[in-house]
Amino acid sequence: MNSEKQIDESRQGEVLVLENVQLGDDKKKVYIETYGCQMNFNDSEIVASILADEQYATTDSEKDADIVLINTCSIRDKAEQTVRNRLNQLKNIKKKKKDVKVGVIGCMAERLKTKLFEEEKLVDIVVGPDAYRSLPELINEANTGQKAVNVFLSKEETYGEIKPQRLNSNGVTAFISIMRGCDNMCSFCVVPFTRGRERSRNPYSIVAEAKDVFDRGYKEVTLLGQNVDSFKWVNPETKEKVNFANLMEMVAKISPNLRVRFSTSHPKDITNEVLYTIAKYDNICNYIHLPVQSGNSRVLKRMNRTYDRAWYKERVEAIWRIIPDCAISTDVIAGFCGEEEHEHQETLSMMDFVKYDLAYMFKYSERPGTLAERKYKDDIPEDIKNRRLQEIITKQQAHSLERNEAHLDKVFNVLVEGTSKRSEEHIFGRTDQNKVVIFPRKKFQKGDYVQVKVNRCTSATLFGEAVEN
Ligand code: SAH
Ligand code: SF4
Ligand code: F3S
Repeated sequence: MNSEKQIDESRQGEVLVLENVQLGDDKKKVYIETYGCQMNFNDSEIVASILADEQYATTDSEKDADIVLINTCSIRDKAEQTVRNRLNQLKNIKKKKKDVKVGVIGCMAERLKTKLFEEEKLVDIVVGPDAYRSLPELINEANTGQKAVNVFLSKEETYGEIKPQRLNSNGVTAFISIMRGCDNMCSFCVVPFTRGRERSRNPYSIVAEAKDVFDRGYKEVTLLGQNVDSFKWVNPETKEKVNFANLMEMVAKISPNLRVRFSTSHPKDITNEVLYTIAKYDNICNYIHLPVQSGNSRVLKRMNRTYDRAWYKERVEAIWRIIPDCAISTDVIAGFCGEEEHEHQETLSMMDFVKYDLAYMFKYSERPGTLAERKYKDDIPEDIKNRRLQEIITKQQAHSLERNEAHLDKVFNVLVEGTSKRSEEHIFGRTDQNKVVIFPRKKFQKGDYVQVKVNRCTSATLFGEAVEN
């Protein structure tokens, strides 16, 4: 288990390199590299689509490119550092090909704005997450030798009608952004500053996109938002209201063969209506990512999470009651400002209570401009942060193993996503509860639903054999 986002079989690492699409010789070539969350990956697909409309083709080699775009993440200092190192490497391509333009897009672009031009001399273009429609114009501007920037944050932009160009896709699972921005202002978090105000996309455009990918052979969609439970849309004419439970139902009804996933749920907003909707539809996956951040109420208050320990536990109990076999995963931050030892212990005891199937675990990283940076001191020494994080990781490893062991000798419906990294003779897929299962390929292919009996596991992976349907 890793302290950063776990690398799974289908998304290897945090870097996505766009595949070649049909190239005409006359077309300019764009190379896009993506860091950060799934929403950022989906944004790169939107960017590729916007540029394709303007006769730009994507390339999987930075060496061929006329334009290099780095879609960036600001969530922790380390994420930004990774991008800076990458920009350093890119200096070489400018030496070889003088005319190539380098753009920084995404959250770091939004956070640093024109400062990026001063700090990173090779950058020609800076574009924030709400300004991707202006990219073709900005590229033209950069081609005349100027520095080009647009970091305007919108209250309306959802790129609703843009059909993302599916990139590096396995052809089975697709991500669909259902909203943008975040209004929550958790004190540690930079996202409200880099992504702007929360806004929900027209649900009918979401259903149309999901239907389109299903018609093209995809079998699973993941509905994405920073806080999907606060999805809210009102038809300006008819006043029809659609909330997240309604939206999930609309997508689930496309076909029983289309699996529906979603991320991220917020403990303060996840309603019983959402839980009953998950329980009602077999094709809505029994898996909820419910970030806890801390198990201590005083720390949660300082984090501005707007729920406390008792509230979180009640929501978990509601999940168990309404969806008994639901898997739950979480995010945890170790060493937030002023976190006392007994408060850290409460995070560990919360983990014992829930026994998460999976967790993404982080050391607190102070982000400039956030509420926590302005209000609190980042005062937990590095060695204590490290020790607390390690205790969290060790505990999670034991829980992941225990949760996986409970799957032994049982049969699960697995959607096959591709060939296993370990061997050509094996394929892998996921259960409804988002567990990766590896099993012998035999006659099966990507996109098949296969009944698999689990016979072995580690804390990260299940292994099994297909059984007769
Ligand atoms: N919208 C999601 C989280 C998005 S960011 C939610 O509300 O749960 C993903 C995770 O990164 C967060 O859940 C948090 O655990 C972690 N994170 C965010 N800011 C951080 C910071 N400053 N330091 C360390 N971890 C952070
Ligand atoms: Fe950040 Fe909180 Fe919004 Fe999640 S809900 S993106 S942690 S401000
Ligand atoms: Fe990173 Fe921005 Fe996503 S900060 S986690 S890429 S919303």
